[in-house]
Formats: sequence, structure tokens, C-alpha cells
Amino acid sequence: MPASRRGSGSFTLLTGQTIAIHTRTQDEEDLPHATKKTMADHLRKYESLFTLTPQRMRMIVEAFTETLELGLNKPNQIVPMIPTFVFGWPTGQEKGDFLALDLGGTNLRVCLVTLQGDGKFEISQTKYRLTEEQKQEDGQKLFDFCAECLNTFVETNTGEGEGQLKPGQSLPLGFTFSYPCSQERIDHGELIRWTKGFGAGNTEGRDVAEMFKQSLEKFQLPIKLTALINDTTGTLIASHYVNPKTKIAVIFGTGCNAAYMEHVKDIAKMEHLGIDPGADMAINCEWGAFDSFEHEHLPRTKYDIIVDDTSNKPGEQAFEKLISGRYLGEILRLVLCELIDEGVLFLGQNTYKLEKPYCFDTAFLSLMESDPTDELLMIIGIFTHFFALETTLAERQFFRALAKLIGRRAARLSSCGIAAIVSKMGYLEEGCSVGADGSLYNKYPGFADRVHEGLQDIFGDKGRNIVTYHAEDGSGVGSAIIAAMTKHRKDAGLYVNV
Ligand code: GLC
Repeated sequence: MPASRRGSGSFTLLTGQTIAIHTRTQDEEDLPHATKKTMADHLRKYESLFTLTPQRMRMIVEAFTETLELGLNKPNQIVPMIPTFVFGWPTGQEKGDFLALDLGGTNLRVCLVTLQGDGKFEISQTKYRLTEEQKQEDGQKLFDFCAECLNTFVETNTGEGEGQLKPGQSLPLGFTFSYPCSQERIDHGELIRWTKGFGAGNTEGRDVAEMFKQSLEKFQLPIKLTALINDTTGTLIASHYVNPKTKIAVIFGTGCNAAYMEHVKDIAKMEHLGIDPGADMAINCEWGAFDSFEHEHLPRTKYDIIVDDTSNKPGEQAFEKLISGRYLGEILRLVLCELIDEGVLFLGQNTYKLEKPYCFDTAFLSLMESDPTDELLMIIGIFTHFFALETTLAERQFFRALAKLIGRRAARLSSCGIAAIVSKMGYLEEGCSVGADGSLYNKYPGFADRVHEGLQDIFGDKGRNIVTYHAEDGSGVGSAIIAAMTKHRKDAGLYVNV
């Protein structure tokens, strides 16, 4: 009998929950287990399914670039390339107090942001958990909850002290609503469709800014909704505020999407609005929808197809479903379930815990990849603690290799999206910075390196000119800067109200 080994550690799941693990290895011989050779054979199969060659990536980039152009030329395309009515870059001199409300994929956040100019700011914030029910119930109720949280935040942060709201002080609010909304002006946005598993009723096709204003009225708050923005647009502006080399912003979180600054003259579908063709406007690509419905360009495995078919929006967000944190754990779980069904894994053990859809958090993939121990004690911990399953070293090595394949594919596909924007805008020679944010980018080990490696596979050595970095908080700070920019435009009589 091998000596027992212990491992311990703690980690945070995407949901914010912190888990402590204490593990002890078991005698590996008392249950039937797959041999090292069997696991290696299986791994080869998955390697060929999940690996993207540079040639394949270049083909995807080509199709992606055409799709971006199409979205700019014609309205209502699958990748909608949404004009945001955020005109040009911030000067870095924006100043003042602003409120920001951030309805992302997992949490609701309220922030008080003080912009100090010179690219500097201060922020205080409170996070509120969203329940699964809130994501699915009536939309107006969801916005009422947002207004209620804002109300609580304002009440708790009002006082005479430094960084506090003064009693009765009226503040402009930037609302970061990170779902595809088509906008006619900056304080308007018709929800095209929910993404990231949301499904609140009576909201798709409606102006969410208007719905939110109705909720604000219920609380009689001294707050004016100044701008409705997407998290990518906020990230673009916030990142440029502190690093003017930034030309593109990408979110790798529960969802995946990008924004960049476009020349108004190149947005053919806006021509009829008569906006100064010399101006620039941020575009929220909503690239998560690339290849939706038709599935012509992306390499989908049968696991990706199951994820899609069993989602609340089959056919939609095809690109996002291969990349974002909401889905990677589920893809890996489906592979494991297949091997259980084939009698390869966990013979004689009860696997019901692992059979529950979405029980395998994407944070597990990053933990498995970063397990520093030879025995892979963290992986033992995950499987025993969460799924009551015993594993052998050969199996654990296989799980880790599988996580790597799925994580690497996500990063390389992301490079294709970035490369498409770079090609379209001609940024390759001069190079550019890409502000990136989201749990996958910030917490998944090696994700950024794999994106960079992917860019070099696509562009060769010049790919090094495109560098991603951890962006500024777009949904908080970005939203405040955009509210400030909007106020400035209005004061200068430049407000575009069409
Ligand atoms: C989803 C949303 C998009 C958002 C992204 C990242 O793709 O549709 O609006 O930017 O997730 O949060």
C-alpha cells in the first residue's frame, strides 16, 4: 500500500464561491481503472479533435473579417457590429463623480467612480449576487432589483466624508448592460437577444434603458441615466484612458466579445444618419455570434454540438460557446461522460454527481492545469471533494491534458477574432495593444500566452506587434468615462439624438 499523501489549498470559483480542499490519495489498486496506455490512446483522439492548425486559423480569420465588414455594411446581421454612439477616444482629462451599474453575466455591481483627470480615478463598489431565478423571471422585475441595489448603495454611501455622495447630490449614471442591444442613441438600447444563459421574459425587442428608467422612478432616485453601454465598449474606453496605445478591447468571461474604434465613414449602414464622416465611433462587435446558425467556419466537435443543442438558445452564440467561461467546463464534462458511458472511466464508482449538466466549473480547468504537484493532488481534491470519485495518476494526467486542449482551443479561436479586427483596421504593421478582461483572461494560467502564440501562428513574427494586457475595469470606470464624455458632448451641443 502506498503511503498516504495529503494536499490542501483553496480556490475561488467563477461564481465567487471560495472552496478549501484537503486531500489524501487512496490506494489506487482497489478499483478497476483505465490503464496508462488506454488513456494515452484516448488523448490522441481528443488531440486531433481539439487542435487548430495555423492554416485552419487563417481560414477562420478570413471568414471572420468578411463577417465584420458585412455587419458594418448592412443592418441586422448575425454579427451585428453595433454602433455605440461613443464618439472617439477620451482625452484622459475627464473629471467628476459618476455612478456605474454593471449587469454582467454573474453579478450585479454598483460603483461610485471619481474621475480625477490625467488618466487617474478612484472607485468604491458593492457587488450583489444574481440568482438563476432572477435571470429567467420577468425583465421588469430584474431591472427593479437593479434599481433597488442602486438605492441601497446610494443610501449607504451618502454622507459628508471623502469619496461619499453628498445628501441630495444628483449624479449621472452609466449603465453597463452586457448583452447585444441595438442603439439609436447612447441612452437607448433595444435588446436583440439575451446571451450567457439569461432568459428574462418581456425584454427581448424592448428598450432596456426605458425599462430601467421606469424602475428608477419607483425609487425616486436623484439619478439620471446618461449612457447605456456594453462591457467591451467600457473596457475599450477605460483602457485607452490609461493606455492610449489601446485600439481593441476583448472580454473573456462568462461571455466573449470585442469592441474597437471605427471610422464613421466606414460604417455604411449608418450613412443615412448624416453623422460627420470624419468622426470615429466605438463598435460593439458582438462577435460571440460569429458562425451562429450556419456553422460553416468553426470546428465544432460533437461535445460542442451537445452544449449548443441543450442550451436555452440553440444555434446562437456559436463562437462564444467554444470560448467563454460559461461553457468550457461543460465541454470537458461531456467528454468525461462519454468515457464513462464507454466504460473507460470510473468503473464500479457512482458517477451521478458528474452527470449533472454544468456541474464542472471552468475554474476546475484552470486549477487542473496549474496543479504544481507530481501526484496532481489538486485534481484528486476536485474529483473526491465535488464528485466523490477516485482517480489514478494516469487518469489525472489525462484530465489535465484534456483541460489544456480545451483551454488552448479557446485561446487560439480568440486570436482569430482579434486577428480579424487587426486585419480589417490595418493595425499589424504599427502594432496595437488589446485591453482584455474577464475571469478566463485573468485567472486561467497561460491563456494570454496562448492568445499571443495564436497571433504569431496567424501572422508570423509580426503577430508579436499585437499585445494583449489586463485591461482597466470597463464596466465601472469605463462606464463613468463614457458618461463624462457624453455629458461633455451634450454641453457642447454635440449630442447626436437621432
Ligand atoms: C456576451 C454578450 C456581450 C458581452 C459579452 C461579455 O457575448 O452578448 O454583450 O459583451 O458576453 O460579457
